[in-house]
Amino acid sequence: MALAIDTSVQPAETAYDSRQAERFAERLLGALNEASLIAMTSIGHRTGLFDVMAEMPPATVAEIAARAGLVERYVREWLAVMVTSRVVVYDAETATYRLPAEHAAFLTRAATPDNIAVTAQMIPLTARVEDAIIERFRKGGGLHYHDYPRFHEVMAEDSGQTVVAALFDHILPLVPGLAGRLENGIDVVDAGCGSGRALVTLAERFPKSRFLGLDLCAEAIERGREAAREKGLANLHFEMRDLSTEETLGAYDLVTAFDAVHDQKDPQGLLDAVARSLKPGGVFLMQDIAGSSRLEKNLDHPPAPFLYTISCLHCTPVSLAQGGPGLGTMWGEELAMAMLERAGFREVTVERLPHDPFNAYFIAR
Ligand SMILES: C[S@@+](CC[C@H](N)C(=O)[O-])C[C@H]1O[C@@H](n2cnc3c(N)ncnc32)[C@H](O)[C@@H]1O
Repeated sequence: MALAIDTSVQPAETAYDSRQAERFAERLLGALNEASLIAMTSIGHRTGLFDVMAEMPPATVAEIAARAGLVERYVREWLAVMVTSRVVVYDAETATYRLPAEHAAFLTRAATPDNIAVTAQMIPLTARVEDAIIERFRKGGGLHYHDYPRFHEVMAEDSGQTVVAALFDHILPLVPGLAGRLENGIDVVDAGCGSGRALVTLAERFPKSRFLGLDLCAEAIERGREAAREKGLANLHFEMRDLSTEETLGAYDLVTAFDAVHDQKDPQGLLDAVARSLKPGGVFLMQDIAGSSRLEKNLDHPPAPFLYTISCLHCTPVSLAQGGPGLGTMWGEELAMAMLERAGFREVTVERLPHDPFNAYFIAR
C-alpha cells in the first residue's frame, strides 16, 4: 500500500513569497476536500454502501438506497460527495452511479486487507473527543478507552487487515521455525490483545498450542471471549488485567504485542515483564508503529501526519489517563530498541512488511 504526501509546499526562509502562500492556500482547500472524503468514506463503510455498489451495475440513487436498506435522501447526498471526489462515476443521462472495480478494490469488505475505508474510520472516531482534548490541552490529563465509542470495534477491524490477514504468510515467517513450534504445541500470551482477533486465528490454526489474551478493557476481553466461544476454542482464554502491575506474565514460549506497547500505563514495565516471562528459547514478537523517535526523520514518512494525529487524539491521552508517560504513537524505533535493550533482550531485529506501511515488527529474544 503506497501513501503519497505533498512535500511541494515548504515555508520560505526569507522574504514573503506570495506564490508560495497561494500554493499553500490551495493545498489547504484541497485538504478540506480530502478530509471530507475520508469522513464520508467512513460512512460508506459503516452503512455498507461501498459493498452494495461494488456488486451492482450502474444504478440510480433509489436502487442503491433500496439495496443498502438506507434512506434515499441521505444516500443522494453521500453519492454527491463520492462523485465530486471522483470515487464514483455518475452518468447524468441515465442518472446512474457506478463504483469502478479499481476503487472498490480499496473500499469494500471483500477488498480486505486493502480496505482503506476501515482506517478512514479512525478520523471520525478520534474527532469525537475534540472538545475533551481541547480541555486536556488547557488543563492536562488524559482520556480513557471508554471515552472513545467504537474504539475496540474499529481496532478489531484494523487488526483483521494488518495482522490477521498477514499472520501466516508474512508475520509468523519473521521468526524462523515458529509456525512449526506452534504446530507442535507451545504456550503463547498476547499482551494488550484487544478483541483478540489475532489469537482467535492462531488458536484455530494451531490446536495443540495454548493461547492467553490479556487486556485492560472489559469490552475487549468480552469480545475476545465471545469469539472464542463461537468458534468453540478450548485452547484460548482471555483475562482482564492491568499489565502495568505485573512483574511477570507467566512462562511462555511466545509473547506477542500487536500495537499495544506505546499506549500502556507503563511500557517499560511491560517490556521488563515480557522479558521475564520468556521460557528458554522463547521469543517476543512486537508489532508497533513504524517511524523514527526523531520528528525530523519522519518528514518523509508518508503516514506521519495521520499517525501523529492518532497519537494526539488517542494513544497519548489513553496512556496519560492511566498515569502513564504518554509515549505517543510515534515513540519510534530508536526508543523502542533502547527500551527493549533495557528490558534485557539481547538480540532484537526490526522488520518491515510490504503490506503494512504503518507498522514495524520487532523480534526480541
Ligand atoms: C491499540 S490497541 C491494540 C489491541 C490489539 N492488540 C489489536 O491489535 O487489535 C491497545 C490495547 O492495549 C490495551 N492496554 C492499554 N493499556 C493497558 C494496560 N495498562 N494493561 C493491559 N492492556 C492495556 C488496550 O486496552 C487496547 O486494547
